[in-house]
This record gives sequence, C-alpha cells and structure tokens, in this order.
Amino acid sequence: MTSEHLATLIGQFPRKPAYRGLRQALQELIGTGRIPLGTRLPSERAISQALAVSRNTVTRVYTDLVAAGFATARQGAGTFAAVPDDRRRAHEHSLRSLAGVHASEDAIDLNCAATVAIPGIASAYERALERLPRYLGSDGHRPTGLPTLRALIAQIYARRGLPTDPEQIMVTSGALAGTAVVARALSRPGDRAMIESPVYPNVIEALRLGGARLVASPMGDALGEEGWDLDGIEATLRQTRPHLAYLIPDFQNPTGFLMRDDQRARYAAALQATRTTAVVDESLQAIALTDADMPLPFAAHAPGAITIGSVSKLLWSGLRVGWIRAPHDLIDRLIKARLQFDLGTALFDQLVVIELLDDSEVIAMRRAQLRQRRNALAQAIGERLPEWRFRLPDGGMTLWLQLPRGSATQLAVNLETVGVHVPPGPMFSVEGGNDQWLRIPYVRPEEELIEAVRRIADFCSRAPAGASGRRDGSRAVIL
Ligand SMILES: Cc1ncc(COP(=O)(O)O)c(C=O)c1O
Repeated sequence: MTSEHLATLIGQFPRKPAYRGLRQALQELIGTGRIPLGTRLPSERAISQALAVSRNTVTRVYTDLVAAGFATARQGAGTFAAVPDDRRRAHEHSLRSLAGVHASEDAIDLNCAATVAIPGIASAYERALERLPRYLGSDGHRPTGLPTLRALIAQIYARRGLPTDPEQIMVTSGALAGTAVVARALSRPGDRAMIESPVYPNVIEALRLGGARLVASPMGDALGEEGWDLDGIEATLRQTRPHLAYLIPDFQNPTGFLMRDDQRARYAAALQATRTTAVVDESLQAIALTDADMPLPFAAHAPGAITIGSVSKLLWSGLRVGWIRAPHDLIDRLIKARLQFDLGTALFDQLVVIELLDDSEVIAMRRAQLRQRRNALAQAIGERLPEWRFRLPDGGMTLWLQLPRGSATQLAVNLETVGVHVPPGPMFSVEGGNDQWLRIPYVRPEEELIEAVRRIADFCSRAPAGASGRRDGSRAVIL
C-alpha cells in the first residue's frame, strides 16, 4: 500500500495529540478490513511525509499497533496489517475456545450462535444404542449416509413442498462440511462465487476451497424489511457471472432475514439468466419463531439449486450431522469430492438424529426456548441501550445491532475488559466494512444475556463516543 493511498483512507484525524489520532485511525482501518490483513504498510519515512507528522510519531504508532496485535513487524521486510489473535475470524476463535482458551471464569462468550443440546437428547442416544447392534455386522461404510436418515430428510423436504428422492441426499458431517464439499466439487481455480455480506464467517473460507474468487453481494438495509437488495444482486450477477452463489434465505446469519417467496422467485430467475448454481444454506430453517407459514424451499424456485441442511441449530452442534440435497446429476460429483477427505458421517450420530429430527415436540421446545431468549435480549437492549438499533428477527439465533456511534471492532476489544466477548461486524464481511454493527446471539440463558447487556451498557455509559482501548498482551486497558 502506498503512502498516498493510506493518506486518502485515513483522511482527517484528530492531531491533539497526532500520535493517538493516527493510531486510532490505523487500528480502525485494519480492524474493519479496509486495510486487508497482510498488507505491507508504508515505510515510516513515507507515511510521515504523506501525513505531515513527525517520524517519531509514526514509529510510536507502529510500535503500539504491533504491541496491540494490529500489525506485525518483520525484520528487514516491513510492518504488516494483522488482527489480534482473539479478533480473528470466528472459526479460529471457536477453535481456540474449544481448546479451553478463555479470558476469565465469569466472561460471557457471545461469539457462537449455538446452544446446549435439546432436552431429551440423552434418551435419544440410549434408543440409538439399542438399534446399533443391527448395523454392527456391516462394514459401517456409507459415504452418502444411512438410508433411513436419507429417506427421512427427503420426506421432510417433500412435506415442505419440494419433492425429493432419497438418492438426492448425501448426509455430511454438518453444514459447513457440506459447503466445503460443494465448493470442492463445483469450483475450479479462477471461478467466481458470489456470497452475501454480511455472512456466517466460516463459509467464507470454505467457499474458497475449490479455488473460487469470492464476489460479495451486499445485503439490503439491515433495519428495513426487504433483507436482500435484489437490484444489486441482479447487477452483480450480470457483471461477474459467478459459477456459484451462496445464500442463506432462511433467517440469514447474522441479519435474521427470511426471504419471501416473491423474492425467491426473482432471485432464482436472475441466477438462471447467468447459469449460476445456487448453494442454499438452510442451517437455520427450522428455527422459526413465529407461527407464520414458511416460504417454499429456495430449490422449489430454482430446481438446479444445491441445498445444505444441518441439525446443529435445532438439536445440538455436538452431533455433527448435516446434509446436501442436490439434483440427481450432481450427486456423483459431490460424493467423489467428499471422498477426497472423508469417508462418511459417524453412523451412531445418524441413528440419534433419526430419533429426533422429525419430533414435533422437540422442535416446539427449541423454538419456545429461543423465542423467550430473543425477547429477553431485545427487551434488555431496549431498556439499557436505547440508542442501539435492530430489527427483531422472526427466526434464527442472532440480533444484528447497529451502534449509535464509534467502531464495533474497538468496542469489542474494550468489552473484553468487562468480560463480554462479542464479534464485531467486520468478522462477518468478505471485504471488511460493517464496523458499526455487532452480532449478539440469543442462545445463552436469559440471566446471562441480561447480565451481558448490563455490562455493555455500564461500559458504554462510562466510556461513550470515541473511547479507545489498548491491548496489552492479552488484556485490554481503557485509555
Ligand atoms: C448459516 C450457517 N451455516 C453453517 C453453520 C455451521 O453448521 P454445522 O454445525 O452444521 O457445520 C452455521 C452455524 O453457525 C450457520 O449459521
């Protein structure tokens, strides 16, 4: 990056003192992704000339950025944009939490939109164990999944208005693994894949697996009612003619929007015009929190679409069971791609899923629990953070919140000092941006959600607009 380009990005910044203004500006540009990770920053000399600040000021700013984790210095090579370990994309964070790396005992971790297991799961495991012996005489090798589960999934699609042959279903080890299989099978290096932005972060890397270049299709106004900017999507499709288009029409993560049938029909027609295959992630489809009729599955409007499903949200993420539903002519390619790294999904977990997937009582329980938590979180935010704006979603697991001012990246860093871990908007962005937004999942118990909001509100009342934090090792301190 040239010093002129950087100076344009920075624009005006508070110069009293220049050191603090410049550091804050750079940290925000890196945190929001406007300076992409790994970018080599201009030399100290060049930037001091371009911005008319002293060389000492720049040296101090670069040293501080490195200490805070927003840059790395490589001897003889220069200074490169980075993000602190715990601000990396969500999948890295979740791996770290699985490894037991937590800031403090009473920290509230709102990074993950996943709940504890559904009540009654232990007895489903017991019932599955009783059915296990009849499978033990086989070699257990079923790359497309247990026939009973494939048939059950097909039956549920048919009930939703999408006739499905069990042969069209391949059971996978979760929706993310399913997305990775699709990317591997259907994209070649240099192809383009269109992806919503903001979006569930882990699919960003999964979609790149086949070598595709990602093209972002921005969602519409997150506080409005339309959800998808279909004019923008049509234009992006025409201009970039992507091979694949990844979308989450059912309670989009993170915004929570549900795509209406008329929107699905229009979107599907646009995809057909550019011969783009839809990759439809229905991970959150079952998490409807109102009694309104659900629209038809996207694939009912777009017969060539590939649909991905999962039990993670409805039952438990620990099961690691999902599936792909694809047109007959694509299934073989998908199986071949899957066999490159995985011979199938654990048979026992599939038996547990058979017990629960179509259990209306289980589904009603999950919905009631999440509805209550959504309402408690929304009420707490309305009372304690009245300037924060959001649209109450009709389903899914997350509130997407707009801050009245300041940077969400900065706030997220600072909130760690009060024991709240929350992912800022840029984590959900393909190309940076969305730094006025935060995602809070309503998956934790109500008291915990209310306590998290209390901590956030107390922090914001003590350190309103422009509060800045400095990370000092693994601890952030407020300046
Ligand atoms: C839209 C979306 N897709 C995929 C996943 C991952 O699902 P799984 O646990 O089935 O891999 C999630 C989980 O957060 C999600 O929200």
